[in-house]
Amino acid sequence: MRVLVTGGAGFIGSHYVRLLAAQGDEAVVLDKLTYAGNRENIADVSHTFHQGDIADPVAVAKAAEGCDAIVNFAAESHVDRSIMGPAEFILTDVLGTQVLLDYARHHNLRYVQVSTDEVYGDIPLEAAPSTEDAPIRASSPYSASKAGGDLQVLAYVRTFGVNASITRGANTYGPQQYPEKLLPLFITNAFDGLELPVYGDGRQRREWLHAEDHCAGIDLVLRKGGAGEIYNVSGQERENMDVIRGILDHTGASPDLLRHVADRPGHDRRYAIDSTKLRSLGWAPRHTLDGGGLADTVAWYRDNRAWWEPIKSGEYRAYYEAQYGNRLGS
Ligand code: NAD
Ligand code: DAU
Repeated sequence: MRVLVTGGAGFIGSHYVRLLAAQGDEAVVLDKLTYAGNRENIADVSHTFHQGDIADPVAVAKAAEGCDAIVNFAAESHVDRSIMGPAEFILTDVLGTQVLLDYARHHNLRYVQVSTDEVYGDIPLEAAPSTEDAPIRASSPYSASKAGGDLQVLAYVRTFGVNASITRGANTYGPQQYPEKLLPLFITNAFDGLELPVYGDGRQRREWLHAEDHCAGIDLVLRKGGAGEIYNVSGQERENMDVIRGILDHTGASPDLLRHVADRPGHDRRYAIDSTKLRSLGWAPRHTLDGGGLADTVAWYRDNRAWWEPIKSGEYRAYYEAQYGNRLGS
């Protein structure tokens, strides 16, 4: 199958390009190469590359020509950046999705939208994990923009008969994740002896899903998912402080680096999803955070300083100062 992988130079998209190549499928990547895109992530994998914006119909038409399917990973993906400036999130996550759907509609392509468990919002501690029919209760500008993309997909299925499905994945971890998200930020800071900024009390809960397991779920939905159907891709639920203690153990960093700082505005306490529906298609995760997933991820960052050191000395420094300067009093 020839698949257009939008956002294929980013974290999860690059793992998906790798999966397609290993299966003998053909990957065509369309990526704008924002701060989060890095061609090095797929330098050793067979693919065709187009630099461009998913919100640009001309760029989409050029890249998608001859493809059988579109899998849309392209997004502004970081909650904290969406709080600093939501506009870019609407342009890519909502308008970009609609432009891709238009192409799929007019060229009869299969379409998979890579969405997130964040659209279900805060799940009370005592509540059961959300199934796919739970209401959308987006909290951040990021999750609201992803929810907007999801609604466009469902509208295109119902109104125009597009053959599209949605996946809603949990917090994803693994090699090549840009060091703004919790795991790579804390791992790389720990290696450099820098402070580890824990938002609030650190007792928020997330489900942790390895990038390879996430991509296997998305690929299964591409091939076996139904039109208009949504599939949760779950992980292992952990309190942030448990994960952070694991990072200290595996990096050997001192707990003295921990700083409890001002919380993220609107911060969801818990995400929890039920992936029975995806499991019934045959999906089962192969990794767990404490069964080697965290240790292997820490080892990857230890062995690949050449990947993250240039990132942390570039545009990232201004972002870090704006995001953490006041919180850490630096
Ligand atoms: P990422 O930020 O690492 O990568 C995003 C990629 O999209 C980058 O390569 C970037 O250059 C590209 N991009 C951004 N705007 C673009 C545009 N307008 N046109 C073309 N390319 C553009 O993100 P990620 O963590 O790999 O997430 C991928 C997808 O998975 C996103 O849709 C995200 O919402 C979703 N998701 C992420 C997680 C997670 O924990 N990281 C969990 C669930 C779902
Ligand atoms: O749940 C899926 C989502 O997971 C994806 O849709 C998003 O793209 C992805 O970024 C991720 O969102 P989160 O906001 O949950 O991930 P993040 O790594 O930013 O934060 C994880 C938890 O750690 C969250 O409770 C906030 C906390 N945190 C994060 C950072 C960056 C801290 O305590 N300190 C930090 O510096």
